[in-house]
Amino acid sequence: MGVGAAVKWGILSTANINRQVIPGVHATEKAELIAVASRDLRRAEEYAREWEIDCAYGSYEALLEDPDVEAVYISLPNTLHCEWSIRAVEAGKHVLCEKPMSRHVADVESAFDAAERNGRILTEAFMYRHHPQTTRLRQLVEEGAIGDVRLVRSCFSYSLYDAENIRLRTEVEGGSLMDVGCYCVSGSRLLAGEPEQVYGQQFVGPSGTDWVFTGTMHFPGDVFAQFDCGTALPERDELEAIGSDGSLFLDDPWHCGEPVIELRRDAGMERIEVEPADSYRLEIENLSDAIRGATDPLLGREDAVGQAHAIDALYRSAATGAAVSL
Ligand SMILES: NC(=O)c1ccc[n+]([C@@H]2O[C@H](COP(=O)([O-])OP(=O)(O)OC[C@H]3O[C@@H](n4cnc5c(N)ncnc54)[C@H](OP(=O)(O)O)[C@@H]3O)[C@@H](O)[C@H]2O)c1
Repeated sequence: MGVGAAVKWGILSTANINRQVIPGVHATEKAELIAVASRDLRRAEEYAREWEIDCAYGSYEALLEDPDVEAVYISLPNTLHCEWSIRAVEAGKHVLCEKPMSRHVADVESAFDAAERNGRILTEAFMYRHHPQTTRLRQLVEEGAIGDVRLVRSCFSYSLYDAENIRLRTEVEGGSLMDVGCYCVSGSRLLAGEPEQVYGQQFVGPSGTDWVFTGTMHFPGDVFAQFDCGTALPERDELEAIGSDGSLFLDDPWHCGEPVIELRRDAGMERIEVEPADSYRLEIENLSDAIRGATDPLLGREDAVGQAHAIDALYRSAATGAAVSL
């Protein structure tokens, strides 16, 4: 396989999120989408026709047996992420696995152990991390634009009352922290490191999943993060990194549809424009480049394990009412 040859991708499932990702795969010369699998062959075939994909499989196993597929995108419900990541790397495929990989640290570790044993790349699909807005935010913080970081404040919420949706189903580990709060955890960790102590509170709705979750995280150097998330709240998404000399405010930190960073200081506000980009395309390109040895994957084991530790600790805190140290 030539260094510049497009990586051949397959998708495990006909999930809704694929609609965001497939256009990015079609748009880049670094990747080619050649197969899709569903639990239902007819659904896979219809999907393949709709999205111009050559091969359709009626089981995820069958796609993993296709020797032409080099990498798979796993957009399954949360409880299936690690299991199918392991099966995929054992079948010799590289993996882009949807967020959150899992709230169970041991499962995330097992998936990366399997990837390392098989010499495959596994990466968690936090697409916003690939967007230039996120890169710029981190640069500004590192350059000292707001002085010493003291606090990260973020939110991500929307309203959903369809009990059939995976986000409201306990047996597939739905919940607002898993679905959207994980972005707040990720963004806070990106700017502040790994939390030393967390405190979480939740409103568990009639579906049994957390409908609203709020968290406080204490990071090294007395940096704090506060976030809220919900599946039973209005649509909101914000991130503000607050430092000793000012703050950096992002009105669209996760979807990055309208990228711009506001640098707010006592003396006034400066808008820092960022070029638009397709985060999903960028994450596919990053893993495709990494597979060809042209770069490193942006997100690896350390980040995914750190995420799982923080999410697990937040849920334990919310369940017990006590702060949890990590
Ligand atoms: N990064 C992002 O921007 C983003 C956005 C949305 C969602 N996500 C993540 O992507 C994943 C999928 O979310 P989604 O909303 O796209 O899910 P979804 O539409 O419900 O799709 C999940 C797919 O998984 C397959 N599946 C296998 N076992 C299943 C089961 N027991 N119950 C339900 N589906 C099952 C189904 O495909 P087949 O029937 O075809 O096999 C189904 O279409 C989640 O982990 C979510 O957190 C990420």
